Amino acid sequence: MEINKSLKLYNTFRVDCISESFINITSTTNLKKALLSNSFRNKFILGGGSNLLLTKNIKDLCLHINIKGRKIIKETSKSIYLEINAGENWHKLVLWCVENNYGGIENLAYIPGNIGAAPIQNIGAYGVELQDVFSSCMVMEKKTGKIEKFTLNDCEFNYRDSVFKNNYKNKFVITSICLKLSKKNHKFNLEYEGLRDEIENKDINLRNIFNAIIKIRKNKLPDPKKIGNCGSFFKNPIIPSNHFNLIQKKFINLPYFKISNNFFKIPAAWLIEKVGLKGFKKNEVGVHISQPLVLVNYGNASGKDILDLAHFVKNKIKKEFDIELEFEVNII
Ligand code: EPU
Repeated sequence: MEINKSLKLYNTFRVDCISESFINITSTTNLKKALLSNSFRNKFILGGGSNLLLTKNIKDLCLHINIKGRKIIKETSKSIYLEINAGENWHKLVLWCVENNYGGIENLAYIPGNIGAAPIQNIGAYGVELQDVFSSCMVMEKKTGKIEKFTLNDCEFNYRDSVFKNNYKNKFVITSICLKLSKKNHKFNLEYEGLRDEIENKDINLRNIFNAIIKIRKNKLPDPKKIGNCGSFFKNPIIPSNHFNLIQKKFINLPYFKISNNFFKIPAAWLIEKVGLKGFKKNEVGVHISQPLVLVNYGNASGKDILDLAHFVKNKIKKEFDIELEFEVNII
């Protein structure tokens, strides 16, 4: 166990909080032992730290899930079932799949973070979500150390949402996931307009889609290795049609995605731009200039500085549009 360890390099916002008691977990056996330890009542589970805003030091026992490895568990002529342990890096998996011609996650290239966090918020980008390729995951109950399997249905996936954010919040640790990927006749997803433009005139294959996604993301999103950030800080709000109609009357060009006759999803980035906060900067924190959904740490901002900015943005949107923005990032 390490004492008073800085978590600066363990969260992509690069916030310098301290973990009073830290263990690097490399196997499920170690995980079980740590979870059942009586010395600490609560255990804080830390994955890749790419969807996390730390606003205070961690007094609970911090378990950094670093369980590595992947294996093929089943193969047919069309599909492959891969089991990947929670501590593997997401993007490295995507790259490996593209290199081996396994299709399904190429649109999810360049998403920071580790495998274990992917099901929690059903990661998604450019027309694809984890649930589209998800088969199951193995979890360990925090209280008992018991291992259980969750199927696709059990996970209750939704837009940036799952059972692990709701009924089972903080109850389980995800130890591995199983994905079903295609080996041939890949179903390419070019729904996203920017992707179609980027791929134009090129062969449509896994490698070209993968490269196009990386290019789009690099153009729009700050690289967490250079500027601290957690990707989208806010979820795109879903609002009822009467509310949507009121806003659309005022802004004819309002971008939207129709969820049903009664609900519309609108880009938080658009709302933030409209209230004039795109590129806003205050001391060491700011709203990113090319993607206002993303809040950034330009230097040594504290978690509280970032959280204050998030509330400032949220309050402005509430006042201007009467919309309650939700945080996508976990605030600790
Ligand atoms: N927009 C603006 N101003 C801007 C940028 C965007 O008005 O400066 C509007 C435009 O109308 C644009 C729309 O926002 O068409 C949507 O923007 P974009 O396509 O960039 O995607 P997004 O809805 O803002 C979501 C995900 C991203 C994911 C992209 C691409 C959420 C919360 N975010 O963003 O996910 O990469 O789609 O699929 O759903 C992440 O979760 O960390 C993340 C980056």
